[in-house]
Amino acid sequence: MNYALVQARGVSKSFWAGDHKVRVLDGVDLTVAAQESLAIVGPSGSGKSTLLNLLGTLDQPDHGNIVIDGKNLSLMDGDELARFRNRNIGFVFQSHHLLPHLTVLENILVPVLAQASQASDELVHRARQLLQRVGLENREQHLPGRLSGGERQRVAVVRSLINQPRLILADEPTGALDRVSAGEVGRLLCELNREQGMTLIVVTHSEELALRMDRVMSMENGTLI
Ligand SMILES: Nc1ncnc2c1ncn2[C@@H]1O[C@H](COP(=O)(O)OP(=O)(O)OP(=O)(O)O)[C@@H](O)[C@H]1O
Ligand SMILES: [Mg+2]
Repeated sequence: MNYALVQARGVSKSFWAGDHKVRVLDGVDLTVAAQESLAIVGPSGSGKSTLLNLLGTLDQPDHGNIVIDGKNLSLMDGDELARFRNRNIGFVFQSHHLLPHLTVLENILVPVLAQASQASDELVHRARQLLQRVGLENREQHLPGRLSGGERQRVAVVRSLINQPRLILADEPTGALDRVSAGEVGRLLCELNREQGMTLIVVTHSEELALRMDRVMSMENGTLI
């Protein structure tokens, strides 16, 4: 077994709902090995996206600890977290969040331009290779509006990979797609996990997608089982 890339211990998170506090996560423990793929399933409102946001450093737990690649997230300040996130974590959401006025290639390079004023030739080359890998090599100058839903989501997957992150977090990546496109995007995530060796955590309501992963865990009553 590979070393643990993600380690969460006793992670709790509550939100205010009107005048009372609701504990959404209640002592979540999770270890994910480097290069492993994990599906998190569970009912709507059970806290899956909340957990993914914490793992992605987009929010902080009330209690508990999250360590990613040996770095304790609670010991980093806002700027450090932003840098860490940009270098190490790729996100894929249910909605692709592509920028409508940028071409496919430009959209893919957006995470690169968060840290540099210009994309190097090497990164442009990598973007083109990945586009080819997902079967979209002849779409690089298209605007997202001219792509199908499945094609847009494949672009979003490529964008999540451009900085060669150690960890990909995907929140219902196939939730907005028809069956065929969902199958393609699911297969792609799975193949890229094996080929590129990044760790993959996918939140999904799709049993088909969940069963593609190495391991499936279920969120119930604020904990993972
Ligand atoms: N920022 C927030 N403020 C207040 N309540 C929140 C916030 N984020 C999430 N919640 C609440 O926490 C609970 C869990 O939400 P979460 O989005 O994590 O569920 P989920 O398991 O991802 O559900 P779904 O499958 O529908 O996406 C819900 O009751 C939600 O209303
Ligand atoms: Mg959710």
